[in-house]
Amino acid sequence: MDNSKIKRYTVTAALPYTNGPVHIGHLAGVYLPADTYVRFLRSNKRDVKFVCGSDENGVPITLKAKKEGITPQQVVDKYHKIIGDSFQEFGISFDIYHRTSSLTHHQTASGFFENLYNKGVFTEEVTEQYYDEKAQQFLADRYITGTCPRCGFEHAYGDQCENCGSTLNATDLINPKSTLSGEPPVRKETKNWFLPLDKYEDKLRAYIESHKEWKPNVYGQCQSWLNAGLQPRAMTRDLDWGVEVPLKDAAGKVLYVWFDAPIGYISATKEFFNYAKLDVWNPKAEKYYINQNTVEKGNWEQYWKDDSTKLVHFIGKDNIVFHCIIFPAMLMAHGDYILADNVPANEFLNLEGQKISTSKNWAVWLNEYLLEFPDKQDVLRYVLTATAPETKDNDFTWKDFQARNNNELVAVLGNFINRVVVLTHKYFDGKVPMIMDIKPEDQAVIDELAQYPAKISASIENYRFREALMEVMNVARLGNKYLADMEPWKVIKTDEDRVRTILNVSLQIVASLEILIEPFLPFTADKLMKMLNYGGHLWAHAGQMNLLPRGHQLNQPVLLFEKIEDEQVQFQIDKLTKSKDENTLANAVAAPAKENINFDDFSAVDIRVATIIAAEKVEKTKKLLKLTLDTGLDQRTVVSGIAEHYKPEEIIGQQVSLLVNLAPREIKGILSQGMILMSENSDGKLTFVAPVDKHNNGSVIK
Ligand code: 2FM
Ligand code: ZN
Repeated sequence: MDNSKIKRYTVTAALPYTNGPVHIGHLAGVYLPADTYVRFLRSNKRDVKFVCGSDENGVPITLKAKKEGITPQQVVDKYHKIIGDSFQEFGISFDIYHRTSSLTHHQTASGFFENLYNKGVFTEEVTEQYYDEKAQQFLADRYITGTCPRCGFEHAYGDQCENCGSTLNATDLINPKSTLSGEPPVRKETKNWFLPLDKYEDKLRAYIESHKEWKPNVYGQCQSWLNAGLQPRAMTRDLDWGVEVPLKDAAGKVLYVWFDAPIGYISATKEFFNYAKLDVWNPKAEKYYINQNTVEKGNWEQYWKDDSTKLVHFIGKDNIVFHCIIFPAMLMAHGDYILADNVPANEFLNLEGQKISTSKNWAVWLNEYLLEFPDKQDVLRYVLTATAPETKDNDFTWKDFQARNNNELVAVLGNFINRVVVLTHKYFDGKVPMIMDIKPEDQAVIDELAQYPAKISASIENYRFREALMEVMNVARLGNKYLADMEPWKVIKTDEDRVRTILNVSLQIVASLEILIEPFLPFTADKLMKMLNYGGHLWAHAGQMNLLPRGHQLNQPVLLFEKIEDEQVQFQIDKLTKSKDENTLANAVAAPAKENINFDDFSAVDIRVATIIAAEKVEKTKKLLKLTLDTGLDQRTVVSGIAEHYKPEEIIGQQVSLLVNLAPREIKGILSQGMILMSENSDGKLTFVAPVDKHNNGSVIK
């Protein structure tokens, strides 16, 4: 969008499902870039509304309620508060953090549906869905389990097999069962209202193709959806939790959660201005989080219907189709609304090399982080922006977290600011000294500094927040180098006037840094603002040399960052591994039992205690070890597929259970005589099965 046309901005961040707390992946992927962008806009005095809220409808909520044995309402009340508090604590500066259970949202979403219905946009289609006769309700895919047609896993869900990862349709499952009653579901016809996406294909294509500037991951995903051809999609569901379908013949049906969720952005904006209209405190509004500093009177429609408004959606990559195809199609069908100018979706953040998983508790939860690292919001904000998955999936590790804190925040940013403020107090009683004489080496630094704000702006405006943050740190590096080269602590002995100039220039860099770090590190910026005793935060001033007038009194220095020790980081790593192990054990689903055998079959099996006396890797293989075993009967060779679990030198002397009468087989040219019994955990880890106390080799296992 042409910058000169922009009068205001509407910035949205994906409404998180209210079925659990938020973790670092959410923050890095969506909320931090959105907040940084908005803070930057505010610092540029642009008119912006930043809206979000809890996504409280849909199957994710009802499933969680079932799992926790509470009502869906209790689920959303609980997590709306946890999530809303976390965002507030991390300084995500929404104008409003709303919720889709609000009356305003229900009215807005059903009004939107009615509008499209009255225009004849929807098609009515009767399809067969699974129905639980005992529970008397239609079943969402997640409510059905059965055997996976691909891998035979007996506990696959109707939409996905967690064993082999296949995406499924509930009707693909073998022996489907309802998780509500345990009974096999029946197929039953039901009518729903469909949005004929195919009819909007040409318009959508034109829209997407007018945005070649979008990130390649977003643009590419849109293209592949369009190229595959769009199909009508049901906008209503048979479910008892959500926004009721406002039609007479739609009892027991609610709006599809992906129909109402993006409308949640609109209802949040409405509610923000509703709130501002009230001259007295509205107790109802306490349920939402409203930024008291930005409350103003105004008209929500300007932010959604006026084409001088720039609309930007911050989301994760799993939400692209909903924001770039389905929601725009809804807005086109309505006709009164503007479309998003950009949808800067991020990829995913991994944790210590593995996918973040809520069910496996492989995550860093925001509410827990702050208990363990109180007052260190900006450290996490910094690390997550510096490693944000902007163009590809990226990895968060605790060691990197520590290194970036210690080597960058402490050693570069904190160190520079601290030295300048401490020296000013030491030599000039904390008063900004006067510039006496600018030398070429000062001018070079002044000129370089002046170029940064525009460079950083360009990166932020193009949604390249990592790059922007790196440039901000380069300003601190510039300052550090200037100090190191000028050595005011030496010069003070001979030329106090020279030190006045050096410290004045350094202090102006510090003041610029206050402005430049604010979108990224708002807590630190505030501390710095107090330390500098300065108004701060206006982007247009950054890079200038007159931010702190001579004679201006600074406050006492405070430490902005402190070192993070090895033990703190090790504690986090251990905690993660421990909780994952506990979760794996708690959630393990045992493999189904095999067919019965008779006792004679079992008696034919000869299992003995044996000891490994030699072990080596089988060349050119990843999995195999060649073992020599003392079986009490003889010494023999067994080839075993345990090389990914044990190193040869670790297992010498290990007692094992050995199936000794398995017919010898040749494996990779080695004659293997028997098989070592291993127990396999649900995460695929193998461990030996051996007598609890040492037994003689050759002892019979029966
Ligand atoms: O993926 C999610 O967590 C969804 N609740 C995102 C919704 S975004 C928007 F449309 F509200
Ligand atoms: Zn499977």
